[in-house]
Amino acid sequence: MDTKQFSKPVLGIETSCDETGVALLRWEPAAPGRGLLSHTLYSQIKLHADYGGVVPELASRDHVRKLLPLVREALAEAGLTPQDLGGVAYTAGPGLVGALLVGASAARAMAWALGIPAIGVHHMEGHLLAPLLEEDPPEPPFVALLVSGGHSMLVEVKGIGRYRILGDTLDDAAGEAFDKTAKMMGLPYPGGPALAELAQQGRAGAFRFSRPMTDRPGLDFSFSGLKTQVLLAWQQSDHTDQTRADIARGFEEAIVDTLAIKCRRALHATGAKRLVIAGGVGANKRLREDLAEAGSKEGFRVYFPRLAFCTDNGAMIALAGAIRLASGQHQDETVQVFPRWDLESLPAVV
Ligand code: KG4
Ligand code: ZN
Repeated sequence: MDTKQFSKPVLGIETSCDETGVALLRWEPAAPGRGLLSHTLYSQIKLHADYGGVVPELASRDHVRKLLPLVREALAEAGLTPQDLGGVAYTAGPGLVGALLVGASAARAMAWALGIPAIGVHHMEGHLLAPLLEEDPPEPPFVALLVSGGHSMLVEVKGIGRYRILGDTLDDAAGEAFDKTAKMMGLPYPGGPALAELAQQGRAGAFRFSRPMTDRPGLDFSFSGLKTQVLLAWQQSDHTDQTRADIARGFEEAIVDTLAIKCRRALHATGAKRLVIAGGVGANKRLREDLAEAGSKEGFRVYFPRLAFCTDNGAMIALAGAIRLASGQHQDETVQVFPRWDLESLPAVV
């Protein structure tokens, strides 16, 4: 990891989907979490709940409304003024194009007005580096399981910006499978946390669903068949509250088991002894507990960000941006976003 100093605080802006996240972070190579000066978040969940999913145009408009007040709030909380900033980092992709453009335009305008560098951050790199915000952060090399609403990936991390995708989803991402399954069973948006909560009342073994693609070699995921199995079970059930909880439990166990099996395989294939779990589904209690237990039995160490930094947030973007700015990377003044963006194409930080 680079140890060059970038002593002034970096403003981090996240607007890729339905959360507006802002944070201020001073780059502290030995303990990045200690450099976090403030972080604020506004979640648009209520705005989209009536529609059962994110409405992109509404998301963009709400980012416009909330972003600058949040920047002011984050600065006030840290006791800073815009003139104290050393750089601006913003999510440049992947994500919803309109939502990304709100953050990118604001970030570029602020950087230009203040005469400081700005950098577009890959959202999944932000997730992947989020555990570095905690005490005793993981050192590369490690394997990262990135499980969010849009992605399910296993990544070999040889260094910052040195990523090799070991496995990817062939259809639905893990978070998407949680959300769609929850919706099917009449749970409110976003379904993941609601389904996980319901699963706590479910009985173990009442429903058992398959662990997709674990019966053959490889590290890719596929969750759409599992979703169909759950739909059939739900349609054929008596629709009582207990059955709904039992099905939720069976579904959660199937997803968590599948993810855990593939994580072990990825550790075995790479020889890594450290596993990072990140992204919204990383907030799932069963996933965290099962993997931590497997790690202590099998001799690998598991690193998670705190719950607030599993789901989308500005701190992870400030961190990823600060690391890259500190190593001398930044981009020209064009406002450019990448709704699709290959993680492997990022430049290494040397
Ligand atoms: O990383 P994230 O905040 O946004 C994206 O980049 O997609 O992830 C959101 C996803 C949603 O699908 C949400 O349902 C899921 O993470 N999620 C959970 C939990 N908390 C959030 N899934 C399962 N269990 C949870 N506790
Ligand atoms: Zn995310």
